[in-house]
Amino acid sequence: MRIVMIGSGYVGLVSGACFADFGHDVVCVDKDAAKIMKLKAGGIPIYEPGLEDLVSKNVAAGRLSFTTELAAPVAAADVVFIGVGTPSRRGDGHADLSYVYAAAREIAGALHGFTVIVTKSTVPVGTGDEVERIIREVNPVAEFAVASNPEFLREGAAIEDFKRPDRIVIGIEDERARGPMEEVYRPLYLNKAPVLFTRRRTSELIKYAANAFLAMKITFINEIADLCEKVGADVQDISRGIGLDNRIGSKFLHAGPGYGGSCFPKDTLALMKTAQDHESPVRLIEATVAINDRRKRAMARKVLNALDGDVRGKTIGVLGLTFKPNTDDMRDAPSLSIIQALQDAGATVRAYDPEGMEAAATMLTGVEYGRSAYDVAEGASAVVLVTEWDAFRALDFKRLKEVMAEPVLVDLRNVYPPKQMEALGIRYSSVGRPS
Ligand code: UGA
Repeated sequence: MRIVMIGSGYVGLVSGACFADFGHDVVCVDKDAAKIMKLKAGGIPIYEPGLEDLVSKNVAAGRLSFTTELAAPVAAADVVFIGVGTPSRRGDGHADLSYVYAAAREIAGALHGFTVIVTKSTVPVGTGDEVERIIREVNPVAEFAVASNPEFLREGAAIEDFKRPDRIVIGIEDERARGPMEEVYRPLYLNKAPVLFTRRRTSELIKYAANAFLAMKITFINEIADLCEKVGADVQDISRGIGLDNRIGSKFLHAGPGYGGSCFPKDTLALMKTAQDHESPVRLIEATVAINDRRKRAMARKVLNALDGDVRGKTIGVLGLTFKPNTDDMRDAPSLSIIQALQDAGATVRAYDPEGMEAAATMLTGVEYGRSAYDVAEGASAVVLVTEWDAFRALDFKRLKEVMAEPVLVDLRNVYPPKQMEALGIRYSSVGRPS
């Protein structure tokens, strides 16, 4: 199949490289000339384990290429994916679809022969209808079908998620789209990945419902963690105890500082807005959004409590800045709110993250950056573990204690056993566990 991927950001680049690896002929298009130049030179604009090798292997095999010009590849394509960004619109929280619609307009002018146009970006219900309308308006004689094919990959595990998905969801209104879409995913059919063909609007909503449900699941266990702290129960045992029930499932029950990232915060908000517009509010998601927003900043209180209510003039070491490990993505990371709250309370913050410091430096002010966990712990009255990078899973506590002003560890990811910390003489607190 000849595939064009419009947008070489996170979703576009990973999906494009994986489709090429399936044996398809893939052209990735992006308006950002600097990004395309970097990709052509073998550079990867994002951090994602395994992506660099996958891209270079498929470029070398002649199956993957990059360009800023979409007309020629679109004219030759069987399937054109739209994988551009859909950020939250400033002011109202709706998804900003201007990039999607601009792409649709450009694609329309270049179509030649029957082509399937697929939205891979996360788009609100009804976007496919509008994409179809735009293409028909710009090019009334074009032969095309518009499909929806949401992406469920996680940052840091994107290639694995793409190649071994729990399911593939494809929404179509025109039966002519079925054959090409089956062909695109044929290699995964062989892996027995369940493929769900449904209507286009349903497919669009599946993506939001999935992310909102996961965000709600995390928020549920976070609230249970708060209750555990009050009543002296252990949230990790509760996660295990409820997760073993197959109807609940054990995943996404890890209590922490609140969910962040480029998807859950934006998608929950967009679903909430769509539902309100249709006078069918999703109140569980409204509550989820509000609880999670409050939680991030509230995590700073744990640090204050660990230091007898006062951090003024003290140095706090922060381990991990990205919203989760194995990414350089800082979007809506809990660390941002936690650090600002600590600074507001008068603390000096020193931070270390294996990949996120460059992005963090553009979003935070007054933070000093270190070269390792031990570097930021130097002279600190407390160390706060915010993101569970592997580099923080086996800290040398003897060394930490030697350099810290006070041996205080606030572990917002429950990485360490409280008993072990007590034995090591660390004043330890975590999330939803008796210390
Ligand atoms: C999420 C979904 O997991 C993907 O299926 C989806 O495709 C993607 O959004 C998207 O819409 O593109 P991602 O944002 O990369 O993926 O990250 P997750 O691994 O889902 O983590 C999101 C946040 O939840 C992180 O801040 C993480 O620390 C937090 N989390 C996750 C918890 O606090 N507890 C958990 O048990 C799981």
